[in-house]
Amino acid sequence: MTDYLVKQEDLDLLERTKDRCNNCQKCPLGLLRTKSVFSGGVPNKKLMLVGEAPGYWEDQKGEPFVGKAGQLLDKIFASVGFSRQNDVYICNTLKCRPPDNRNPLPEEKDACREFLDIQVGTLKPRIILLCGNIAVQSFIEGARGITKVRGQWFDGPYGAKMMPIFHPSYLLRNDSREKGSPKWLMWQDIQEIRRVYDELFKDS
Ligand code: URA
Repeated sequence: MTDYLVKQEDLDLLERTKDRCNNCQKCPLGLLRTKSVFSGGVPNKKLMLVGEAPGYWEDQKGEPFVGKAGQLLDKIFASVGFSRQNDVYICNTLKCRPPDNRNPLPEEKDACREFLDIQVGTLKPRIILLCGNIAVQSFIEGARGITKVRGQWFDGPYGAKMMPIFHPSYLLRNDSREKGSPKWLMWQDIQEIRRVYDELFKDS
């Protein structure tokens, strides 16, 4: 039986890295932030979600996905019995909010990458969900757009299974639930994620 408990030394490393992140001035976003947003949910070795960057509310609270998009994300997880309190470690490609929520610049992603690498390398989660194009580009070189790659499994770091999924803010802009719509596709994807999760961890 595989042990999926996160060791205390790994939790300590994540805490120390979070402290460094809170003081980071490696790119100009460090001067603009209210709070940096290192992670949310629960550190675990099974399921991680990587998003894009903090928005207004995340910057205010220092927690990822706490605005409207985050509330939808919680509902999507809840629809298959996952919760951020028990099942998912949540982080972003950038730990500080870009002005007006613009896309992260390459130099910002480069400056922030070490934090994401430590998060992935410390937890080595078996499943990584790449939420939206920015997260996809951080892990899959030359990836096509999210509508082409969502719902497919890719090989990720440390043997992880990785799946690109739509960003919840995209779903908020596309309200239809008809067959083939983004919301409908997300429903297919989250069920597939639950299926693979159950299969991987059936003995743990
Ligand atoms: N969008 C993201 O990608 N991450 C957040 O934390 C909030 C909104």
